Amino acid sequence: MNIMRALLGGLLVAPTAAWYVDVHNQIGFMAEKFLNKHATSVIQDILEPQYNGSIGRAAAWADAYAHTHEGRYSYNWHFIDTEDDPPSNCTLNYAEDCSSKGCVVSAIQNQTNILKGCIEDVYNGSLRGGINMICSYALKWVVHFIGDITQPLHASGLALGGNRFNVTFGNITTNLHSVWDGHIVYLDANVTQFSNASIAPFFEKLVSRIYHKDDFVEPRHEWLSCSDPSTPLTCALHWAHESNMWNCRYVYSQIHNNVDLASSGYAVGAFPIVELQISKAALRLGTWLNKLVGEVMFRPRNQKILKNDHISPRL
Ligand SMILES: *[C@@H]1O[C@H](CO)[C@@H](O)[C@H](O)[C@H]1NC(C)=O
Ligand SMILES: *[C@@H]1O[C@H](CO)[C@@H](O)[C@H](O)[C@H]1NC(C)=O
Ligand SMILES: *[C@@H]1O[C@H](CO)[C@@H](O)[C@H](O)[C@H]1NC(C)=O
Ligand SMILES: *[C@@H]1O[C@H](CO)[C@@H](O)[C@H](O)[C@H]1NC(C)=O
Ligand SMILES: *[C@@H]1O[C@H](CO)[C@@H](O)[C@H](O)[C@H]1NC(C)=O
Ligand SMILES: *[C@@H]1O[C@H](CO)[C@@H](O)[C@H](O)[C@H]1NC(C)=O
Ligand SMILES: *[C@@H]1O[C@H](CO)[C@@H](O)[C@H](O)[C@H]1NC(C)=O
Ligand SMILES: *[C@@H]1O[C@H](CO)[C@@H](O)[C@H](O)[C@H]1NC(C)=O
Repeated sequence: MNIMRALLGGLLVAPTAAWYVDVHNQIGFMAEKFLNKHATSVIQDILEPQYNGSIGRAAAWADAYAHTHEGRYSYNWHFIDTEDDPPSNCTLNYAEDCSSKGCVVSAIQNQTNILKGCIEDVYNGSLRGGINMICSYALKWVVHFIGDITQPLHASGLALGGNRFNVTFGNITTNLHSVWDGHIVYLDANVTQFSNASIAPFFEKLVSRIYHKDDFVEPRHEWLSCSDPSTPLTCALHWAHESNMWNCRYVYSQIHNNVDLASSGYAVGAFPIVELQISKAALRLGTWLNKLVGEVMFRPRNQKILKNDHISPRL
């Protein structure tokens, strides 16, 4: 238990937590670029019609839902509160850190398993037109949480994931969590917000870099070192560990008192990290959904519908 945690431990309500709504939408629109046609078609059957088959449009639902009375139970599924002490100690201990109400790691496991059953339902003809809310929710949660888990402060318990860590950014007082959820991305893209209806140029460029350049601070092949949806707990833990490490490698180690993070060099130093983490989220999400659909398609009784298509993104 560190001092910050002791001071903050008594605070009850955590403010909203997640990549900003529009950033979530954009991660979803990026992921759509990696989906094969089978996954695209299955998604159309699972999502409610209002999303028009777009995981980009559906990607932010989970935050709104967590803030309703009905959806309050899912609030803890958006993060994992580690008990470590960045920047000197970044440690994630699943057994201790995942709350009894769940966490982003257990939620990815649970909803992925539910989603697999839903894909079965699509293939055997019992699910079409987004009529099963358990299935639509499972897909929307998987889409959202594979985004959340790459945000370093969603794998950190210090100061409630940085929500209670006040900072100045571009002359406004905000908190470190918000800075990583959105402010850094907006500054990097030089915009004040992104579309909720289609992919924005900043994210289109990331997709193009993923396909053609592989010039990120970690090589692309490592992003998918764990990406098998039949081991969702292992992969989600791997992803959370990786995000947690950024809190020691950058998020808390490069913070200096009383500077404006937008102009001090902090934000510019964070750009490559944010670009990496967002790109990872999108590629993993597309790959995860392709593989889930592929697993179901390759079951012997489903093979009659199988065509000779790629299951993984063509990179
Ligand atoms: C719904 O998606 C289809 C296929 O992607 C597209 O052609 C159509 O314009 C979309 N409709 C709306 C209302 O966005
Ligand atoms: C790091 O934090 C974890 C979790 O609180 C703790 O178990 C571990 O002993 C700490 N390691 C060091 C080197 O302080
Ligand atoms: C798994 O998801 C179902 C459906 O949303 C939910 O009722 C259940 O509590 C979840 N279980 C865990 C361990 O998260
Ligand atoms: C389709 O598959 C699901 C999941 O395996 C099963 O519960 C359901 O009964 C099946 N429906 C039909 C029509 O075969
Ligand atoms: C952080 O900011 C919030 C909201 O602006 C304020 O209520 C709180 O007192 C500040 N905390 C510290 C430690 O300055
Ligand atoms: C912050 O305020 C200073 C002094 O008023 C001004 O020079 C600077 O341009 C402002 N920066 C931003 C990002 O608004
Ligand atoms: C950022 O956008 C503004 C207007 O939207 C433009 O004037 C400015 O040149 C842009 N800055 C950079 C660094 O691209
Ligand atoms: C998208 O943004 C528009 C304009 O701000 C808004 O009217 C609409 O409700 C938003 N759609 C969703 C799904 O949030």
